Amino acid sequence: MRSCNIITAVLISILSCNTLMAQFNYDESKVPAYELPELLQLNDGTPVKDAAAWNEKRRAEVLELFRSEVYGRRPGRPKALRFEVTKKDEEALGGKARRREVRIHFTSEENGPSMNMLLYLPAKAKGPTPAFLGLNFRGNPTVSKDPGITLRKGDKESDRGKSSGRWQADMVIDRGYALATIWYGDIEPDDKRNAFSQGIHRVYGPANKIPPDGWGSIAAWGWGLSRALDYFETIDEIDHKRVAVIGHSRLGKTSLWAGAEDERFALVISNDSGCGGAALSRRAFGETVKRINTSFPHWFCDNFNKYNGREADLPVDQHMLIALMAPRPVYVASAAGDRWADPRGEYLSAKHADPVYRLLGTEGLPAQKMPPVDKPSMGRIGYHIRTGNHDVKAFDWKAYLDFADKHLGRR
Ligand code: GCU
Repeated sequence: MRSCNIITAVLISILSCNTLMAQFNYDESKVPAYELPELLQLNDGTPVKDAAAWNEKRRAEVLELFRSEVYGRRPGRPKALRFEVTKKDEEALGGKARRREVRIHFTSEENGPSMNMLLYLPAKAKGPTPAFLGLNFRGNPTVSKDPGITLRKGDKESDRGKSSGRWQADMVIDRGYALATIWYGDIEPDDKRNAFSQGIHRVYGPANKIPPDGWGSIAAWGWGLSRALDYFETIDEIDHKRVAVIGHSRLGKTSLWAGAEDERFALVISNDSGCGGAALSRRAFGETVKRINTSFPHWFCDNFNKYNGREADLPVDQHMLIALMAPRPVYVASAAGDRWADPRGEYLSAKHADPVYRLLGTEGLPAQKMPPVDKPSMGRIGYHIRTGNHDVKAFDWKAYLDFADKHLGRR
């Protein structure tokens, strides 16, 4: 009896191990042979031979495929959008910055859905400055130890500055850029059960009536980033034509989709965005489409489930998402220890987007092979793989600032 139990236990553990392994792979030799969808060919098979064919036809086709099959369709700017400055330009960061807080209201209701933006402006700036804009994971007060950042419901005094390493506010300001951030949960909670009933989705319709190509949370968060850009268009301190959108991990997926949907973003940065972000889905290395749709069913549109375990059937792959930024500068960053996000797949997306950048007359990605760790390659497409784990470090920010200097210029 006892040995029977042991055999059953061993069998169960082998089976569950196999099930888990079927959900992700860390072995390069097991990456399936794959063929990427043609980037430079219209859906009807016509080759895309010049910039006009990309700009006028192919870009729209690719964008539409991502909308209908991956992220879902998002609404436009709400008519009632309005901006309320809740804290006006106090001295911050030892005098080098001015801190402003702005509530961006999505509807006309006074206590309706809104998001709170924290904005640091370089104190020395003589004219409009370029800016970095990104969503944060744990609330605005976590971005800096600055005691003047307003604590909102759920924020703790003891959490001040807990994510400051990921934001490098001093470095950004010292280099002459503004830094703006919003807690992503203000737009929509990252919660598979309640996302659509408590977030911005509810303004646009009942949670149970989302069509198969209806927007998921990544699209909702990206929509929020566009609303922040709407605010920049109304002020003189920021040059809204020189705004870089940045995001890490799920928020890196978000910055990419925001950059694809909203061409007003002048530069787009994906930090360790992985599956559903910069990594090629067809490699099925690290996190897979099935795994991400199972763990986070609210992130993408329902149609994306059709490709669970069937990556080869996707009409797009993520290099096409990178190409949607063209000819705007785009930076993809990986971390060597972040196998879940598939660094090689992230590099390959950047590389396979290169033909579109070249077609549009830019330098694309200079690196012909995956660059060694800690050696950024910067053309109009940038890429690096950093030593270390899934995170945003000073090394990453230095590269982003160098890349922004190259393309947005310090004026
Ligand atoms: C999980 C998820 C990733 C995501 C990451 C993050 O690991 O599987 O897809 O990028 O969370 O956002 O931190």
